[in-house]
Amino acid sequence: MTDSARYQQVLSTLTQVGQEHLLHFYDQLDPAAQTQLLDQLEQQDWPQLAELIESHVKQSPEIGLPESIEPAPYYPAAAPEQLTKKYDLAVKHGEELLRAGKVAAFVVAGGQGTRLGWDGPKGTYPATPIQRKPLFQVFAETIIKAQRKYGSIIPWYIMTSPINDEPTRAFFKEHNYFGLNPKDVMFFQQGTIPSFSTEGKALLASPGQMATNPDGHGGSLRALHVSGAIADMEQRGIEQISYFQVDNPLINITDPLFIGMHAIDGAQMSSKMVVKVAPDEKVGNFTLSDGRIMVIEYSDLPKELEQKLDADGKPMFIAGSIAIHIIGVNFVKQLNSGRFALPYHRAIKKVPHVDLATGELVEPTEPNAVKLETFVFDALPLCQMSIVLETIRENEFGPIKNAEGVDSAVTSRQLQSQRAARWLRTTGVEVADDAVIELSPLTAIAPEDLQQAEGLPQRIDPGQRTVL
Ligand code: UTP
Repeated sequence: MTDSARYQQVLSTLTQVGQEHLLHFYDQLDPAAQTQLLDQLEQQDWPQLAELIESHVKQSPEIGLPESIEPAPYYPAAAPEQLTKKYDLAVKHGEELLRAGKVAAFVVAGGQGTRLGWDGPKGTYPATPIQRKPLFQVFAETIIKAQRKYGSIIPWYIMTSPINDEPTRAFFKEHNYFGLNPKDVMFFQQGTIPSFSTEGKALLASPGQMATNPDGHGGSLRALHVSGAIADMEQRGIEQISYFQVDNPLINITDPLFIGMHAIDGAQMSSKMVVKVAPDEKVGNFTLSDGRIMVIEYSDLPKELEQKLDADGKPMFIAGSIAIHIIGVNFVKQLNSGRFALPYHRAIKKVPHVDLATGELVEPTEPNAVKLETFVFDALPLCQMSIVLETIRENEFGPIKNAEGVDSAVTSRQLQSQRAARWLRTTGVEVADDAVIELSPLTAIAPEDLQQAEGLPQRIDPGQRTVL
């Protein structure tokens, strides 16, 4: 078809859904740019987007909460007496899966990282307390150590998005994959969705390009399939995917208890939780409805449930989500074998866009646009079986989300150093409270690894900075 025929067809489709302004600058573009714009516009499912615009862009979507919402059951971090055998069995089974090379690491790193404001992919951010190793290096070394520990390959899948794919790959190349075999590191891109004005008009990022945003971490469940990552996993005999976010250097990627408990309970997708610091802490809540685990965002959980107390006067909804999951390869395959759609969530964000009247780029100072995203935890209610395991916050959750204040590099580095101090104390090292310690994952990814570590000091003095 000629470009002019394609143009007519795209114009007619867009006119039907009130989006013909996207072709406003078409005549001013050179032929290559015209073709690119048509390509981009043709790839969209406009009838579906039109429905989403009505239900999710022009207004906040209705949140259809289930009628009965109970707190989700969970396995406590430490084995209760009646479950010690099961916990032991789970650890053994998790270790077997790791030794047999049946576990893959999977980081979602396609986000825009607007809160951090770092010029580059978030995974390149200097995260550690002393050496300032980037997040990607921390994960790479965690995986290398686990490979050594279990004598197997743990392939690493890295989801990027069009905004950071190229610099992410370049960063790994430049750093020789931080010692990993490049054959065992696979990058793939997630999908995108147009960004809209609050009136429901798709925005232009430039005269020849529609503004889009990554479709949320929930997009990973399709991207894993479409990219061929699942096929690659199957070829390698991978059964379980250890899912984590790019901003948390404390992540325990290969936790035998978590992997094993998920597997022996026959779960399709499982989650770790931390006890919330307060009933109104701004994290998702693990709940149970009609026998299904689901996460209800803090803003959607009815106030009376958020504050509800049990017979002992303790808050009932204490399980907060920290975006750590084990996902079965079969579950992702099953989802993608049929039509599955995760719900869209709406966020108002700052999106630079071209002013149609002047053709100039507007850099908004206030949030001006609607971004739609899907969330990975919305797949939990699609599972027949899903477990939740408690983890201790300071051991496994120190995200770098903000440039300063809570969940920033400063707080994360403190948590990293404090965890290292706790681990060292378990092996008898005397550690002063205000020492700054950087413990490489190559030395230890769990406290017991320190038993084999060589050259540990007997004591670390007040104010001392130590890299181990
Ligand atoms: P966040 O919710 O922290 O979003 O993502 P973000 O985009 O990184 O940061 P802000 O909100 O703009 O400041 C949690 C995790 O999900 C990934 C992120 O890379 C991060 O690891 N993510 C998020 C994706 O992979 N794709 C997305 O579309 C969104």
